[in-house]
Amino acid sequence: MRSCSVDQLGSGEMAIALCIMIIFGGTLVVANDPYQYEDWTVSYIDASPLGVMQKVIAINDQFPGPQLETTTNYNLVIRVHNELDEPLLITWDGIQQRKNAWQDGVAGTNCPIQPGRSWTYNFKMKDQIGSYYYYPSLLFQKAAGGFGSIRVNPRRNIPCPFAPPAADFVVLIGDWYKTDHKTMRSVLDEGRLLGSPDGVLINGRGPLESSFTVEQGKTYRLRISNVGLTQTLNFRIQGHRLLLVETEGSYVAQTYYSTLDVHVGQSYSVLVTMDQSIPADFHIVASSRFTWPTLYGLAVLHYSTSHRGLVSRDLPPAPNDVQSSYEQARSIRMNLTAGAARPNPQGSYHYGQIKVNKTYVFANSALKVKGKQRFMVNGVSSLRPSTPLKLADYLKIDGVFHVGSIPDHPIDWATPSVASSVVAGDFRAFVEIVFQNPENALQSWHINGYAFFVVGMGPGRWSRESQRGYNLVDAVARTTTQVYGNAWTTVLVELDNPGLWNIRSQELQRQWLGQELYLRVVNPAGNDVKMQEEPPPHNLLLCGRALIHDAG
Ligand SMILES: *[C@@H]1O[C@H](CO)[C@@H](O)[C@H](O)[C@H]1NC(C)=O
Ligand SMILES: *[C@@H]1O[C@H](CO)[C@@H](O)[C@H](O)[C@H]1NC(C)=O
Repeated sequence: MRSCSVDQLGSGEMAIALCIMIIFGGTLVVANDPYQYEDWTVSYIDASPLGVMQKVIAINDQFPGPQLETTTNYNLVIRVHNELDEPLLITWDGIQQRKNAWQDGVAGTNCPIQPGRSWTYNFKMKDQIGSYYYYPSLLFQKAAGGFGSIRVNPRRNIPCPFAPPAADFVVLIGDWYKTDHKTMRSVLDEGRLLGSPDGVLINGRGPLESSFTVEQGKTYRLRISNVGLTQTLNFRIQGHRLLLVETEGSYVAQTYYSTLDVHVGQSYSVLVTMDQSIPADFHIVASSRFTWPTLYGLAVLHYSTSHRGLVSRDLPPAPNDVQSSYEQARSIRMNLTAGAARPNPQGSYHYGQIKVNKTYVFANSALKVKGKQRFMVNGVSSLRPSTPLKLADYLKIDGVFHVGSIPDHPIDWATPSVASSVVAGDFRAFVEIVFQNPENALQSWHINGYAFFVVGMGPGRWSRESQRGYNLVDAVARTTTQVYGNAWTTVLVELDNPGLWNIRSQELQRQWLGQELYLRVVNPAGNDVKMQEEPPPHNLLLCGRALIHDAG
């Protein structure tokens, strides 16, 4: 049996209890899946990734944070101790939190962990495998770091569509500003925009400051995530091809690329074979793709027997057109015969044959409101709630939000407004979501709680005609998709995960200034008890109007 990893069980302190009984909400639950415990302290450390000393956010004194390595169906218990001087939440980008939005770690679902306090996340890696990342979701803290890789190994009895690699490398790429995140926040709150980033980091380090040592002839798996704020990055390795094998939990039909566009928030696994006949050092490059001037993140691929230094100063070339990026996106397809978390679930799921119940069209826009820059979806700029919407919903606190505060299609005559944006989704409806981008700037969209099929993208304005070009056979399921400038992208998804889910721009300044919304999916009472949402956790935090409500 081939497994996907070198080291299936990982190295973290892992307590495995095979048959743990927990009393939960008055019912006796027998859980057969192992528990994994993590203890994280989040604090500032001094670092100078681009030559200027900065306060960066570290986890257990590491920047980037430690890789969260786990396995399908494990129960995670992660204690987060906040030693920052501001409130904190960690969100798990791409982890689906089945029926459990209570652990999602965004402003609309959780009260923050106050400075000096701890809070324990409790969630299950239900039916997931693959590569993702986590980051601090509040107060623009992602600009100061606090991010790390998530790796979900398949269970031992699930076969892998490729031979185990010699090693597995984390490659976190992202643009970076030398400015303090609090300063960036105040610039945005004054209604101005951030300028171009100052550079691109690879694993938290500046140009040529990180290196990966490899043995000639061996094959390695690189888990690449774009953890940056704004820039699409083109990833490439001098003299080596990238065999794409996985995108955010889907095994793809394996394809070689010389370069790979990684949009903000996206994750990929590639296999790279060290097939150069003369051992040397090679450039690893992550450079900004659709903006000028080009910023370069550089690292070194070092053959263990090389004493020659860099093989050449020249960087491998990057594409500079949009068309090739479209073509690459369309070429990334699901491997329909490969299983992932369960034996072959995607292949047996014929999403293309399911009738669509409803179409949503979400159009982004940029506009000034009272002289200040805001970003909108269908004319509504989302406000950050001081009472989590999820909590207001559960405790039935009026006036925090109302479902339908944002239309599900763009309305041309609408006057721009500001609200806590929530749309309704019918439980188990199969929906088409069109992201329409009327701006020149590329967009990157993410939906929490789900993986969706990216069935089509094209220039101009989406219409019913556009549906003809959809890939209804082997589109890839993922959690973040790009939308090119003046273009649309359509995703299909079954709303089978009850909860309140954040749909957001992965570009932090756009999200901060309103380009996000929540999708509320409720399983009607009495309908399929197994699919009811989890009750709130025993350690539920209260804040905002929930505090007053609770006291009264
Ligand atoms: C798809 O997965 C199967 C089963 O693991 C594997 O044998 C095959 O090589 C994969 N095909 C491609 C094109 O990646
Ligand atoms: C979606 O459409 C199917 C087929 O028309 C129907 O059976 C189902 O009830 C609909 N589901 C929802 C949630 O509207």
